[in-house]
Amino acid sequence: MRAARAFLIGVLTLSSTASGGWLFAAQQPAPSAAVTLDFEFFKTRVQPIFVAKRPGHARCISCHIEGTPMRLQPFTPGTSTWSDEASRKNFDLVIQRSVVPGSPQSRLLVHPLAEAAGGDFYHNGGKHWKSQNDPEWQTLKTWVMGQTARSNAR
Ligand code: HEC
Repeated sequence: MRAARAFLIGVLTLSSTASGGWLFAAQQPAPSAAVTLDFEFFKTRVQPIFVAKRPGHARCISCHIEGTPMRLQPFTPGTSTWSDEASRKNFDLVIQRSVVPGSPQSRLLVHPLAEAAGGDFYHNGGKHWKSQNDPEWQTLKTWVMGQTARSNAR
């Protein structure tokens, strides 16, 4: 428990770098309007998380394609992927509904995250990640913090 709390405090004082590494910073800069969210990263790294199966949970898309306020586009018929156009619509929608660029408090990050790990109180779709160390959660976070697909490939 103490370790978890120490980790959370650590996260607040960390800032991500373009190279995907982590650097200590004396102060976390306020969420910046200068953060631009990258479409390629969303399409190739974030969307697959919406489709992935996690033990004990329905996939994000099971609920988020048909209903819910954050309603994603249907798949290209006969596939489990989205066309470029549908991905663009998903990108706009997810940002509009659930992301404050540069903010770790974005709903996309805190809603499916366990409350004990810094998530919010309740998500109708369940808490899919128990820790901020989860690689999927880290991927969502780096995107929200402005990571681009290109800087990530380096
Ligand atoms: C069992 C159905 C279900 C699953 C699975 C599910 N959700 Fe949800 N989600 C909901 C419902 C219903 C809401 C609206 C009510 C609420 O906020 O709890 C919601 C709300 C949200 C919101 C807030 C959207 C808004 O505009 O208010 C986000 C973000 C979100 N879900 C992300 C996810 C992610 C990411 C996953 C997969 C890791 C996921 N959800 C899995 C049902 C689900």
